[in-house]
Amino acid sequence: MSAPQHHLHVELGTRRYPIWIGSGLIESHLEALITEANPQLGRQILVLSNPTVAEHFLQPVLATLAKSPQNYHVQHHLMPDGESYKNLATYSDIMDVLVQARFSRDCLIIALGGGVVGDMAGFVAATWQRGVRFLQIPTTLLAQVDSSVGGKTAVNHPGGKNLIGAFHQPSGVLIDTDVLMTLPTRELGAGLAEVIKYGIMADADFFTWLEKNIDALRQKNPDALSAAIYKSCAIKADVVAADETEQGQRALLNLGHTFGHAIEAATNYQTWLHGEAVAVGMVMAAHLSLMRGYIDADYHHAIIQLIQNAGLPIHPPQSMTDAQWLTLMARDKKVLQGKMRFILPTARGAAAIFSDVTEDELRRVIEAATQSV
Ligand SMILES: NC(=O)c1ccc[n+]([C@@H]2O[C@H](COP(=O)([O-])OP(=O)(O)OC[C@H]3O[C@@H](n4cnc5c(N)ncnc54)[C@H](O)[C@@H]3O)[C@@H](O)[C@H]2O)c1
Ligand SMILES: [Zn+2]
Repeated sequence: MSAPQHHLHVELGTRRYPIWIGSGLIESHLEALITEANPQLGRQILVLSNPTVAEHFLQPVLATLAKSPQNYHVQHHLMPDGESYKNLATYSDIMDVLVQARFSRDCLIIALGGGVVGDMAGFVAATWQRGVRFLQIPTTLLAQVDSSVGGKTAVNHPGGKNLIGAFHQPSGVLIDTDVLMTLPTRELGAGLAEVIKYGIMADADFFTWLEKNIDALRQKNPDALSAAIYKSCAIKADVVAADETEQGQRALLNLGHTFGHAIEAATNYQTWLHGEAVAVGMVMAAHLSLMRGYIDADYHHAIIQLIQNAGLPIHPPQSMTDAQWLTLMARDKKVLQGKMRFILPTARGAAAIFSDVTEDELRRVIEAATQSV
């Protein structure tokens, strides 16, 4: 079986892995990717999903695996749907399944779901018997362009998001664009925010392409989606290959995230989707760049326009006070040696990390973002 139309690798030496992107891949390419990405695999496979995703895609995945000549022993486990279940209790339930079924070190864990299922399956795979292989089948746009690539795995603690985790790269990522057809519009939009992020931080031509194709993406045009996912994964793969454990450049992927995390925290992770908060965060980063003279008014306007055309918010909640903003941003995980770090666009298709943003500047940005633009 040949590779699908869109394919690339995350270049990490001996842990190099393929990402395959296209329509209908669960049926046509899952078995080929498992074989190619996992030499000397045993027979045991655990598919982790949740009831929402399983309703649409579990049977197709199980049917494909059942047809394989490899005679896999496949089990599945459904975790409850929702960020609040990305916790140690769910992790422990999955460990019980692995213990009871005597999963060995040559098993494979398959994540079938959005970022929550992917992060959980990845952390399970990172820790079961000190690390086994896992394959990602991401089913949200956010998971397809972001969380399934790069090997960050984690669960939440009541004291904070993603506090318990490990870097553990998947052995392959299968992105079937057909799964997006059942994805709610708001979830699609949240994924588009991360797609736009790649255009702003790394690729001016991609940004221009997005300006022209944003409606097609919102309408789930399959060719537009494949192209945008491919480009996004290629940019993330490059960054991850250069800086796997975020010692430097990988932090650029956090464009808009320091502001965004403050919005998510202020609203108790309830009302805003992560991508929506990041969208406003990118608007605020653009304001700061304009104030500092890094970008011109035309490009500043283009960023805001694109985010708005993607159906995403451009204003933070009116209810957030300056004091709340400053406290929450200072608490963000991205704080290093006591300094808040901001990723700011510095030109079309370029961004850089800044640790010298003053409180006064932040107050001005918050004011500018809260008013109508
Ligand atoms: N590891 C990383 O690098 C990384 C990066 C970004 C985000 N994340 C994590 O990802 C998580 C967010 O991921 P998400 O946005 O995918 O949310 P999610 O996994 O909660 O999925 C969103 C909702 O969509 C449903 N869903 C998934 N696929 C569907 C489909 N095809 N059709 C219909 N419904 C579907 C899910 O059941 C859920 O209700 C967070 O926990 C975040 O911390 C991790
Ligand atoms: Zn993000």
